[in-house]
Amino acid sequence: MSTDQYFITHIQSSIQDDDFIKLSLGDYKGVEPDLKNIYVKPVLIKRAFKLSFTYRYKTRDITKNFMVEEAIEQIQTLLQENGFRMATLFTTKENTICQWNKKRGWMLKSEQPTSAKLDSLSHDYQKERKIGSTSKKYLAELRLTDSDGKVFKNAQDKWRQINHYIELLSSMLKELPADKELSVVDMGAGKGYLTFALYDYLNNELNKPASVVGVEYRDDLVSLCNNIASSSSFNKLSFVQGTIEDYNPTQELNVLIALHACDTATDDAIFKGITNGADLIVVAPCCHKQVRRQLEKVKATNDLDFMTQYGIFLERHAEMLTDGIRALILEYYGYQTKVLQFIADAHTPKNVMIVGVKKAINLKKQHEILAKLLATKAYFGMEYHYLERLCGLSS
Ligand SMILES: C[S@@+](CC[C@H](N)C(=O)[O-])C[C@H]1O[C@@H](n2cnc3c(N)ncnc32)[C@H](O)[C@@H]1O
Repeated sequence: MSTDQYFITHIQSSIQDDDFIKLSLGDYKGVEPDLKNIYVKPVLIKRAFKLSFTYRYKTRDITKNFMVEEAIEQIQTLLQENGFRMATLFTTKENTICQWNKKRGWMLKSEQPTSAKLDSLSHDYQKERKIGSTSKKYLAELRLTDSDGKVFKNAQDKWRQINHYIELLSSMLKELPADKELSVVDMGAGKGYLTFALYDYLNNELNKPASVVGVEYRDDLVSLCNNIASSSSFNKLSFVQGTIEDYNPTQELNVLIALHACDTATDDAIFKGITNGADLIVVAPCCHKQVRRQLEKVKATNDLDFMTQYGIFLERHAEMLTDGIRALILEYYGYQTKVLQFIADAHTPKNVMIVGVKKAINLKKQHEILAKLLATKAYFGMEYHYLERLCGLSS
């Protein structure tokens, strides 16, 4: 990873870990007249955590607020394209300075923190976690908290991950129809941490009535989760034992979620979402074996051999190709698609989230996508993508 990319990841981790105090950008060499510095600090706007950018010009200041993902993209662009040659990240643990050097490129330096305390707003935000309180029965029964609602030390990461996940989804969930009970399916629900959190958030924090089903093939997890749902009186949350491939929703589907479902199970889930007309499809893919095996076969004869001869690059190609084509197929079916970083690299490398929001199908775009799919497969020497075949799009 390049130094500036590492710095960006560091910013993301500090936000996620509640260490972020502020960021300043300086030594501006870009083209915008009179721009001097940019200062970035956290703000709460209508209970949503945002990053506020103050653009300091010679004679005036302009302030803009961004959601975290947009803010990270902004910072990336400001450093990589817009001519800021110095950035200082202030966290409670350290100050990190990222500076451009003509001869050596981006350089990083760490110093003692200017302040080891968060300002009051960041404190508020910590309390303002999406799952309003830690004193909830399901959190204790899932062994995330003790009986007094204190998050166990070894569950801190999971707790942050759950809140971050809800944070990412919240603006999209708020857009869903409010005039009827929502139907949500979480495929490959596992121990149900995120399924419970989503149910709780929709019904109790957003006050959007929703029924949620977790699909999971491990019997023991299904029983455990059903017991916890029942003891928490989550009457519209249930877990069913079975495979994603075989599961068919019994009612209209609004939201399809599949987080870290293995390999092609993610494709099965996307397929279910598309065929059941889900308004929102959210997947965080796991491994990418189906495409990887095909790249492996052709790697010696392909023009990309200088990269794919290395296992790690082959892996990354497989990941981007698999997920890029998934996003393309969602677009084919009229989903407006975004690819986000789910959790910072420091926590797990499986950190991509694909989000599709259903819009209208566009026939011209469909033709273009089919052509792109064909050309991409030929270029990479791929025979087929599992989702493409499920959807009957392969030629
Ligand atoms: C890595 S866990 C992720 C659990 C949860 N979604 C999360 O992100 O915390 C994947 C889960 O999906 C289940 N799973 C994988 N493939 C499946 C399939 N085809 N049908 C049903 N469950 C599946 C596994 O048993 C496992 O519990």
